[in-house]
Amino acid sequence: MKKFICVADIGPLDAAVKEALEVKANKFGYTELGRNKTLLMLFFNSSLRTRLSTQKAAMNLGMNVMVLDVNQGAWKLETERGVIMDGDKAEHLLEAIPVMASYCDIIGVRAFAGLTDKKADYEEQVISQFLNYAGCPVFSMEAATRHPLQSFADLITIEEFKTVERPKVVMTWAPHPKALPQAVPNSFAEWMNATDYDFVITHPEGYELDPSFVGSAHVEYDQKKAFEGAHFIYAKNWSAYADPNYGKVLSTDKTWTVDAEKMALTDNAFFMHCLPVRRNMIVTDEVIESERSIVIPEAANREISAQTVLKKMLETL
Ligand code: CP
Repeated sequence: MKKFICVADIGPLDAAVKEALEVKANKFGYTELGRNKTLLMLFFNSSLRTRLSTQKAAMNLGMNVMVLDVNQGAWKLETERGVIMDGDKAEHLLEAIPVMASYCDIIGVRAFAGLTDKKADYEEQVISQFLNYAGCPVFSMEAATRHPLQSFADLITIEEFKTVERPKVVMTWAPHPKALPQAVPNSFAEWMNATDYDFVITHPEGYELDPSFVGSAHVEYDQKKAFEGAHFIYAKNWSAYADPNYGKVLSTDKTWTVDAEKMALTDNAFFMHCLPVRRNMIVTDEVIESERSIVIPEAANREISAQTVLKKMLETL
């Protein structure tokens, strides 16, 4: 595998989940694969889970790992071509990418949406330059429009916990004080639409996602109705996608917070969230601390999704 940016890159999902569960059962069975191979993890944005789980996954495979925080200790990088570089950015991505690639075998990149220029965000201007100029395998550690390592971990988790063949999975918008990208909900929708699950998205009016990610999902504006009979509740905040409100917070309506009363409408659903989560905005303490909350095993599966992707990349080097 030369790139991992979206669901299509992983191939058939049944096979990918099967391989992930094999990796999980035998994490240290592939330590020779990464010997003398180096992973560079490049962060334009903060991270806890992605950083640690991906580093751990690479270590499980016997790889060496380098981590660079672009905004802490590195030269500030210009990402747009044609800019007169007379500001605070000392180096252009077009030189930095091949230089960094000369020191490693695989590059992981985290570069969030700026949320001011929808066209630039949805063209994936940062990670696409890595794909074009790195000359080595590149994977997303959350880009402007997708977070595939998270979605793969989410899928593995649902497959582990589901008790019916075709569960009802509900992704619900929930309030947050800051404008967040659409990458996680876009990506989750993309991966769920690639399964045969009964997939429902619920959000207030004005929070419609890019139709190409919504795909065949059923959109239900009544959150309580959406929750009825659900087997999994996947909560997430996102900012508006539609013009003229792209990247804006339109509501912090806490009637959309996931609470025990709403969870009681479900078929004893599991609660999921990618984390970090704002308690008593997105979800109440009671729900996230309940027996049906699987946010910790979900986060733990980030190591497994990353190890599976890295293993597939190492196998093609
Ligand atoms: N879910 C997730 O990507 O977490 P981090 O932002 O902490 O990496």
